[in-house]
Amino acid sequence: MNPVKIAPSLLAADFGNLQRDVEIVNQSEAAWHHLDIMDGLFVPNISYGMPVIKAISKFATKPLDTHLMIMDPDRYIQTFADLGIYMLTVHYEACTHLHRTIQAIRATGMKAGVALNPHTSVELLKDIIGDLDLVLIMSVNPGFGGQSFIPNTYEKIRTLKKMIKEQKASALIEVDGGVSMENAAKLIEAGADVLVAGSAVFKSEKPSETISKLAHAAVS
Ligand code: DX5
Ligand code: ZN
Repeated sequence: MNPVKIAPSLLAADFGNLQRDVEIVNQSEAAWHHLDIMDGLFVPNISYGMPVIKAISKFATKPLDTHLMIMDPDRYIQTFADLGIYMLTVHYEACTHLHRTIQAIRATGMKAGVALNPHTSVELLKDIIGDLDLVLIMSVNPGFGGQSFIPNTYEKIRTLKKMIKEQKASALIEVDGGVSMENAAKLIEAGADVLVAGSAVFKSEKPSETISKLAHAAVS
């Protein structure tokens, strides 16, 4: 089994000390920095935008995993490419022409992901899974950090893993929302490749140690 990747979500970082918190991730066992972009329309919250991403990218030494919770994300694909984003993930529910959006992301050289809200079935991806680098399964309703994990997520991961295998696709499965030491091992066992963690990392006493513990979580 490949080691799980940990992507700490900077949404839970101390924005007054953003550089310090980005450096914590740089120095840790994390694989990626997870950036949450919200527009106040697709989700009932606004997080941060281009100037802040630009500042983060100046200090970040790991790939930027960017989760767009915005309507009509096609408008900003080139802007995100210019900012040096590694993985650009759009929401299934926010794209009318998802196939076109995915092609447009890949044409810039970025990797392309699709995120699913808790109510959206993974089966809906069966005609596009071969074109995806990543599927992000939301394990809370998007918009806020610090919410409780939705247990139905395990079954969604298993179903998606099966679909990926059957189609010989290579998309990674990322889980986002309420991830902690309570559920990390079970998520890995179900087939998760990437775990996003905000509160569990940044609200802990030693964020770097928490990242290591999550990275090495395994069913005993
Ligand atoms: C929620 C975001 C998450 C969030 C996770 O809409 O997509 O990435 O930061 O935060 P925690 O880990 O606190 O649930
Ligand atoms: Zn996210």
